[in-house]
Amino acid sequence: MSSSDSPWWAERYSRLLAVDRAFGGEIDGLAEEQADFIERLAALRPGERILDLGCGAGRHSILLAERGYRVVGLDLSADLLAEARAAWARRHPDQPGPTWVQADMRRPDLDGAHEACIAMDHSLGMFDDDADHLEVLVAVGDRLSGGGPLILELMNPYFWAHHAETRHYPPGALAADAHIVRSYRFDADRGRIEDHVTVFRTEGPPEVMPVQSLRAWTPPEIRALLSAAGFQDVEVYGSDGWRAPTEPRPLDPVHSAWMWVRARSTG
Ligand SMILES: C[S@@+](CC[C@H](N)C(=O)[O-])C[C@H]1O[C@@H](n2cnc3c(N)ncnc32)[C@H](O)[C@@H]1O
Repeated sequence: MSSSDSPWWAERYSRLLAVDRAFGGEIDGLAEEQADFIERLAALRPGERILDLGCGAGRHSILLAERGYRVVGLDLSADLLAEARAAWARRHPDQPGPTWVQADMRRPDLDGAHEACIAMDHSLGMFDDDADHLEVLVAVGDRLSGGGPLILELMNPYFWAHHAETRHYPPGALAADAHIVRSYRFDADRGRIEDHVTVFRTEGPPEVMPVQSLRAWTPPEIRALLSAAGFQDVEVYGSDGWRAPTEPRPLDPVHSAWMWVRARSTG
């Protein structure tokens, strides 16, 4: 079994998620402005069908569905999709929401074409091997109609190469009863960002979460990968620190934590 058949994230996203959810809380506040920027960058039109690849607990799927788009949220994690479904039902008990699909993004089991695709919070980049990322991009390209845009939000390797840092969260910051230490490391040789989290409770041994390892492409690398998958007109933009920009702006290697990429399918 290759590592991509039994990925680290399956354990991370299902085993210790009380803690990871708390981290999620840190970024949930950005989802509205990210949705604004997605609408702008993808030039979405009302009613368009949008594929949210690796949708997780549905932060963006839900907001975009509320704005009138027909959204398909795809994720491999049944637990996260159940959270997404429940979140929609809490907000709109009587309305049908996004369509939730449990599938591996390399082999998305989807009906019909989509006008746009988004992959947020580095949902593309989890595989060890770029051949898997290429497979995902080819599959997405096949499901996008009429030059439909693909929007990727990816960590900016130039930023992370020298913002590798360790953060300590005392009890109450993320978990009521635990110290949490999170450190990011940039593996320059593999072009990956590693995210290590350890939870120290008052009792018991430290709990070490599975390491999240993400492929962090430089702009020329992501352009080459997208081009190999048949995408064109690849544009790379930068975030405003951690925040989504309000308008497309050049990637700032030092200050943009995130890279926003737009590419057009040739289908
Ligand atoms: C960092 S989370 C981002 C979630 C969401 N896009 C957001 O911004 O909140 C990455 C997501 O990708 C999903 N994922 C990882 N590998 C996948 C695969 N092979 N197929 C489908 N989803 C996958 C994980 O379950 C997780 O929900």
